Amino acid sequence: MAYVCLCNSFNEGTLEAAIDDMLPPEDGASVKLSDVYKRCSGGEKPQCGKCLQQIKASIQARQDVNTGNSAAEDSIPVVNLPTPANDS
Ligand code: FES
Repeated sequence: MAYVCLCNSFNEGTLEAAIDDMLPPEDGASVKLSDVYKRCSGGEKPQCGKCLQQIKASIQARQDVNTGNSAAEDSIPVVNLPTPANDS
């Protein structure tokens, strides 16, 4: 698995496991980036911050899967293909 954070050394597997463990939040709120980071890094704070965007995107993707709200589906253009009935 590829590293997500080089400063505090954790990989995609650690990130995914942390997000899965934290979803859904007990109070129904969104999972916080800072909480996920702390869990993955063993309580350490981000140093350079280069990984934070990837972590944020992973949290959003997991939340969308859990809520059935797929941003990926929203970005797929709808194309009306001709059928024999309406093809003229
Ligand atoms: S790569 Fe994660 S804080 Fe630097």
